[in-house]
Amino acid sequence: MAEAAPNPSAVPAHDRTRSFHLRVFGCQMNFYDGELIRAAFVRRGYREAADPDGADVVLFHTCSVREHAEERVHGLLGELRRRKRSDPGVIVGVVGCMADREGLELFEREPHVDIVCGSRHFPHLPSFVDRVRGGEERVLEVGAARAAVDQPLRDLAGRPHSWSAHVAVMRGCDLNCTYCIVPSVRGRVASRPPQEIVDEVRRLVDHGVTEVNLLGQTIDAYGRDLPRDGRPSLGRLLDQLAELEALLRVRLITLHPSYVDSELARAMARSPQFLRLLPIPLQSGSDSVLKRMKRGYDTGLYRKRIDLLKQEMPDLELVSDWIVGFPGESDAEFADSERLMQEIGFLHSFVFQYSPRPGTSAYALDDDVPAATKKERNQRLLELQRRIARQRSARFVGTDSRMLLEQPDRDQPDAWSGRSHNGHPCSVAGAAGYQAGQLLPVHLQAPGRRGLQALALGPPRPLALAPGPPPPQVVAADPSTAAFLV
Ligand code: SAH
Ligand code: SF4
Ligand code: F3S
Repeated sequence: MAEAAPNPSAVPAHDRTRSFHLRVFGCQMNFYDGELIRAAFVRRGYREAADPDGADVVLFHTCSVREHAEERVHGLLGELRRRKRSDPGVIVGVVGCMADREGLELFEREPHVDIVCGSRHFPHLPSFVDRVRGGEERVLEVGAARAAVDQPLRDLAGRPHSWSAHVAVMRGCDLNCTYCIVPSVRGRVASRPPQEIVDEVRRLVDHGVTEVNLLGQTIDAYGRDLPRDGRPSLGRLLDQLAELEALLRVRLITLHPSYVDSELARAMARSPQFLRLLPIPLQSGSDSVLKRMKRGYDTGLYRKRIDLLKQEMPDLELVSDWIVGFPGESDAEFADSERLMQEIGFLHSFVFQYSPRPGTSAYALDDDVPAATKKERNQRLLELQRRIARQRSARFVGTDSRMLLEQPDRDQPDAWSGRSHNGHPCSVAGAAGYQAGQLLPVHLQAPGRRGLQALALGPPRPLALAPGPPPPQVVAADPSTAAFLV
């Protein structure tokens, strides 16, 4: 559908400042997109409301990866139905992956929704609101879009931290895991030009950012959609970012094992900023389940890719996602996951119970693992992961590291929490006067209540810049440290 130009004369005069309420679900890409949505509304003079009650525009930025995530949004939409009856002027929008998956059907199930806006259209949300105010009954903008979502000149407003920022480097996925809705809602891989990314990171660094989280659904596929001649790659992007001296840390979220090669492993190893904590989901430790999932690798190939990375970076830590209760997953197949989790020794895991998604090829399979078994397997894997994480942290006791300070420690006065160079949570005492985003040389002394207890080996590296003014007050919906949180 073409975007109608906003007609200012059709916008009714408002006797109060307009406000919007945004609630975000899903992965870090969705949270990042939430920042861009915020910035778009703030630019138009809107104020962000912490509460949906009283907000002029209520938006849900949604996730379709599991049924539960969609049902929560339908529940919240149900609560808004009564409000809409008494206050028909309130504008309700469903944005993101659910909008792309359900499209027109969303209006049928939720007739009080005014806007259904897919993941490739949200930069235009304020103008969609204008269209509704101008008299259009419903606005439906889903699927492919003419313009890229990420602008060459990103508005830096809307960030939740002054010292850490997200930057999308690619969007979409060209793979076809049988359980996954992402490729059908987010489309094929679309990479941003490297210069645009570097310029954006430089602007962030000029505003006091010292850590960037580079985002992509399969970030190591970065560049593969661009012309072969002079094609950029994630490795080369890391090299370019290494030239930004005031940038202290670069995190990558999320890799797919199929795209890992030695060029990338070497680039990570020589990057002074790369956080050696890599989300590289395995999903299952069973070859037969991986085959049914069409993950594109077996456990042997996964091990090879990890070996390649660890040859270059023996201290690299890994994070995995797991699906338990995939159709037909037997006790023996589940036991393979437990074994491989232990063998590879992940530092952290996100465990999900299989949820059949209409529109995926696994939807045709019998969802035959009982809910109670899925739940039990979920708990068992999480419990095992907790034990493994403790063992891994213990291995680094007695070593030196560089800790990036994140926030004052909640439990100890004058202490700060943060992460070591390879992602271990740490806490350092005697830290009065420290600032978030600073890098501190530390000795990791002992296991503590929240990760490793660290001793400062010197003063923190002074920030090249005083952190810029704090970003505008934002509402952190569903705070997430997870790569994927629903
Ligand atoms: N691109 C990433 C993951 C994207 S989706 C990758 O390939 O690893 C985030 C996570 O949600 C997945 O890693 C998977 O563990 C989980 N997930 C995806 N579809 C699911 C489904 N139908 N049921 C349960 N979990 C699912
Ligand atoms: Fe989904 Fe697989 Fe693509 Fe990850 S790689 S987004 S799990 S289809
Ligand atoms: Fe979409 Fe991210 Fe969920 S891509 S389906 S919001 S995990």
